[in-house]
Amino acid sequence: MEHRNFGDTDLGCSVVGFGTWEMGGTQYGDIDLKAAVRAVEMAVDHGITLFDTAEVYGPFTSEELLAKGLGARRKDVVVVTKVGFAYRDDDTRGRDASPANITVHAEDCLRRLDTDYIDLLLIHWPDHKTPHDDTIGALEALKDAGKIRHYGVSNYDVPMMRECERHGHLTANQVGYHLFDRRMEAHVLPFCGEAGIGFMSYGSLGFGLLTGAMTPETTFVDWDWRSAGKAFGLPLFEGERFRAELLVVDKLKAFAADHGKSVAQLAIAWVLGNPALTVALVGMRNEREHWQLSDDDRRAIDRIFEEEDVPTYVGEPQAR
Ligand SMILES: NC(=O)c1ccc[n+]([C@@H]2O[C@H](COP(=O)([O-])OP(=O)(O)OC[C@H]3O[C@@H](n4cnc5c(N)ncnc54)[C@H](OP(=O)(O)O)[C@@H]3O)[C@@H](O)[C@H]2O)c1
Repeated sequence: MEHRNFGDTDLGCSVVGFGTWEMGGTQYGDIDLKAAVRAVEMAVDHGITLFDTAEVYGPFTSEELLAKGLGARRKDVVVVTKVGFAYRDDDTRGRDASPANITVHAEDCLRRLDTDYIDLLLIHWPDHKTPHDDTIGALEALKDAGKIRHYGVSNYDVPMMRECERHGHLTANQVGYHLFDRRMEAHVLPFCGEAGIGFMSYGSLGFGLLTGAMTPETTFVDWDWRSAGKAFGLPLFEGERFRAELLVVDKLKAFAADHGKSVAQLAIAWVLGNPALTVALVGMRNEREHWQLSDDDRRAIDRIFEEEDVPTYVGEPQAR
């Protein structure tokens, strides 16, 4: 599998990364936890070298399951986790990227991940109350102490990243980017490219939309976050819009099949076609072969969206 480095850093990994939000078991459809642990083992066997988790997935259970799946091979891979929430009784109580909160929670992540270092620690969502320099100061201190190798952010816009860069250097920003949500193309991706900051895409499979497994009859249990209809501010799972997107997926499926590929392979290849991108995160159970799309392929894909009059939200502001 192809490898890329994060921005201008020496941290490298496979271009497809394993996402473990689903393994939290509480927000993202039913999951067989034993199978999930086996999926992690299998992913390592197949050359995936980046695993993304967060304390809030579960909360806490995803990190523990990931540690179980990785076992002694943890040292062979890049482990990414995220902090930046306050909790009471295992329930989140708002964003908190204050130095005190981050420092304590990083220790908890280390314990659950059964490791003495985190390769990349991210602030999960911007905390609008804590000055960025305070947060970066705490991340630098964790780095100096050898508890983390790199730090970065998630869901930050350009002004926020710019401010962070005045006080340190971000290894990555992790934001949603996929065929149905191209908001990051206008500002965030170009800025990451220029500033030497890696970019991790989440939702590479459109949160399941781009797997070909959904139909107009697909519904979500009430505790699945997709049941609200919105995906990070966009109406991707709402009524008519959802049905129109499925028509696009049908055409993409046919386009991919003409190339002997699946629509999931097309979705991943499309995301990886952006040169500023480091790693496409996928909530997955098996590895998929990597496919390189030509410019003609990308134009043919865009025509499918135009034919079905389905927006891709280029230029619209991101969720913050
Ligand atoms: N930083 C953030 O704020 C943030 C936000 C969202 C996600 N993330 C990270 O990004 C990772 C990946 O994003 P994502 O999981 O949200 O979206 P995704 O990868 O676009 O989609 C995952 C969904 O696709 C389904 N899927 C995967 N392969 C499939 C197949 N072959 N057939 C049918 N369905 C398939 C999965 O179902 P099954 O589980 O049933 O396989 C899951 O429901 C997460 O796990 C998490 O680590 C971060």
